[in-house]
Amino acid sequence: MSHFDTLVDICLKRGIIYPDSEIHGSLSGFYDYGSIGYEIKRRWEEAWRKHFLKLHPNFHEIQTTTIMPMNVFKASGHLEHFYDPIAECPHCGTKVRADHLLEDYLGEKFEGLTTKELNELMKKHNIVCPKCKKPFKEIENFTLMFSVDVGAGDDKKVAYLRPETAQGPYTAFKREFRANREKLPLGLAIIGKAFRNEISPRQFVIRTREFTQAELQIFFDPESLPEVPFDKIKAYKLRLLPQGEKGIIELTCEEAVKRTGMEPFFIYFMAMSQLFMEKMGLLEHFRFKQLSDEEKAFYNKYHWDLEINMPSFGKWIEVAGFHYRTDHDLRGHAEVSKQKLNIPGKNYVPHVLELSFGVDRNIFALLDCNLKQKKDQWYFALPPIVAPYDVAVFPLVNKDRLPERAREIYYSLNTTFKVFYDDSGSIGRRYARVDEIGVPLAVTVDFQTLEDDTVTLRDRDTGNQIRVEINKLNDKIAGVF
Ligand code: GLY
Repeated sequence: MSHFDTLVDICLKRGIIYPDSEIHGSLSGFYDYGSIGYEIKRRWEEAWRKHFLKLHPNFHEIQTTTIMPMNVFKASGHLEHFYDPIAECPHCGTKVRADHLLEDYLGEKFEGLTTKELNELMKKHNIVCPKCKKPFKEIENFTLMFSVDVGAGDDKKVAYLRPETAQGPYTAFKREFRANREKLPLGLAIIGKAFRNEISPRQFVIRTREFTQAELQIFFDPESLPEVPFDKIKAYKLRLLPQGEKGIIELTCEEAVKRTGMEPFFIYFMAMSQLFMEKMGLLEHFRFKQLSDEEKAFYNKYHWDLEINMPSFGKWIEVAGFHYRTDHDLRGHAEVSKQKLNIPGKNYVPHVLELSFGVDRNIFALLDCNLKQKKDQWYFALPPIVAPYDVAVFPLVNKDRLPERAREIYYSLNTTFKVFYDDSGSIGRRYARVDEIGVPLAVTVDFQTLEDDTVTLRDRDTGNQIRVEINKLNDKIAGVF
């Protein structure tokens, strides 16, 4: 089995991630997180919150709706611009994203090309339907937003499922700015669902139609950039792939300011984003890729993708984005809503720096980069911070007062940690099952425990065990996190 197939196989078998509504035949591009997968995702989200919301006292999390009125997307430009090029086969009905099809054939990226340019490339390279080998229809644009009817009869209105969480903070900006004493910078974060009617969902949870984003919109006055503790990070090295470079270059934040011409305020938030990936143990797989003018969204002044080199696909995949969206969003919302969203006393609206993380892609990256093999067993060597459980507790055998003692330890540990308990089957099999889903530690209660109040503490990655006094167990486990 390939790395990817092994990963998916464990996800399905162990209830980590699986297709939605399977018993009825799933729609493609919709996935559920099971008990173990959701815990990994929940912990990732909690780590993201802790990391980014503590960067400034005026950064807050909000929760806005997933269905929004049409005017939101007139203002944002999505109604006009948010589509993908579709290649449709008139013979067998196959529908694929034209730029991805070209990428698969030619091994280059073609995102952002016009339909005219794509049609020319399709002809030039004689690209035909991969299924029936006949020519495609002319490439057209296909809108990615899901529309929904809201209300009944004459009251019925067309609305849309949000294609990004970002629009929530923009539409809520006026109230949040007032509620937070009209101070800038103001950071508004949302962790929540977004929806895109992808032409060809693929690669498990990499490209889905319903997905989770964790996005932070930082509103600031462009004439007076917010102060940041740049001194603290000026020697920290960023892993960058600027336009024109062939490979990653490592530059200190101070050097990055000079090389990119970006102000320290922006570089600081790049560093914070990279530090988060480092916290997730992904630094060696990580880079910032600067997008070209053709690739970047038209409203972005600075646009870097945060990419992970994924073993499953043997290539770099975007898992997050660093976007300086200028005044595009608030200006659009002010125009369409006829509301004043200006900075008080100024005749311009705040600018926005957006840190946009695709949660599902980040979870996939964690699973993909941490899928390891020891002897003939595959397991996820997840960092403890995102493991589904902190520790497992097992009685060595299911008799002779060992389960009772193990359950006591389970209850005393689970006031502090997330603890897994299992007393059935062989101890070797139980270790293998918790290793597989990434639990970093296992405590085993054995006959010696009954004599001297010690247990064994086993490390997932090495399999090594040490003997620990029960009254020191909490501190020992906490030391791992
Ligand atoms: N909010 C940016 C994005 O969804 O790509």
